[in-house]
Amino acid sequence: MNYYLAPMEGITGRIFRNAYHRCFPDFDKYFTPFITPTDNGKLSPKDYNDIGPEFNEGLYVVPQILTNQADGFLRTAKAIQALGYKEVNFNLGCPSGTVVAKRRGSGFLAYPMELDEFLYEIFAKTDLKVSIKTRVGKADPAEFEEILGIYNRYPLEELIIHPRVREDYYKGSVRMEAFEEGIAMSKSPVCYNGDIFTVSQEKILEEKFPQLNRVMIGRGVCANPGLVSALKTGNPVTLEQFMSFHDCLYKGYQDFFLAMSGQRVVLFKMKEIWCYMASMFADCKKQEKKIKKAQSLADYEAAVAAMVRECQFQPDHGFLPPR
Ligand SMILES: Cc1cc2nc3c(=O)[nH]c(=O)nc-3n(C[C@H](O)[C@H](O)[C@H](O)COP(=O)(O)O)c2cc1C
Repeated sequence: MNYYLAPMEGITGRIFRNAYHRCFPDFDKYFTPFITPTDNGKLSPKDYNDIGPEFNEGLYVVPQILTNQADGFLRTAKAIQALGYKEVNFNLGCPSGTVVAKRRGSGFLAYPMELDEFLYEIFAKTDLKVSIKTRVGKADPAEFEEILGIYNRYPLEELIIHPRVREDYYKGSVRMEAFEEGIAMSKSPVCYNGDIFTVSQEKILEEKFPQLNRVMIGRGVCANPGLVSALKTGNPVTLEQFMSFHDCLYKGYQDFFLAMSGQRVVLFKMKEIWCYMASMFADCKKQEKKIKKAQSLADYEAAVAAMVRECQFQPDHGFLPPR
């Protein structure tokens, strides 16, 4: 099985990727959070800071583009290619209101004719490998058949399917029937993405789809950074491994943000990752709240130490989505 890190805006940027890879070098590909084309076709300093090759040494990184304009896609793809990249990913999944209102991300799925024209143009004019990350429709999985028919006209590097429609956001169960349709119909290799939070969930997926050889994981790895390692070796993550990843990430954010922006950004980033990581500790509401309330790095470190000291670490647990 090949494992890919899901793109997660604000979370799985270069600091996360590098910290992760140092502790658990087991992802085959790291997809970046989306890049939106600029008017001049150049990468913004923020995007360069994320995908610059000197910041991603030793990692197989796939930059992701979000747009509905073929010329913008092509100019951005060219700037990415100039950095040495051979592959890009196209975002047809983002459910955010502002993105969808501009007919981008999963909003583009509601305009099949325009989507077809867009894909025709980009595949005609780039020699980069292009993969697609898609939802199974904008409002209804019945849309997926037509969308798959369009994808099948183009030589996608791979088709990553998150089997939810836009209106689902990340809530409710994944729509496995639509994924089944995708894996049966797609002419391109298919990758599964969605709600793989534990080893047993992934093993069930493998049993159901023996032909599947690629899985993308996001929130499951944010909660349990040892998940892919456990899938590969059968050994659950230890508290020591979990904390060494935490420490690496914390140091990475401090090195990057402390001098430039102060403690506030470092705290914000670490509090965000604890929305996922707290799922690995039993009965930790009080300790989690303390982390969220920390106003300084000293407060934060004391709150994390209390979490580790007072709450039982549950290596077999996975991300618990909010209800
Ligand atoms: C906070 C957050 C940010 C995300 N950012 C992106 C993004 O930039 N590009 C993208 O294609 N998907 C993005 N996603 C979706 C994830 O890549 C993934 O499809 C989703 O989390 C489901 O997979 P999971 O259940 O393994 O987390 C984001 C999801 C979350 C929760």
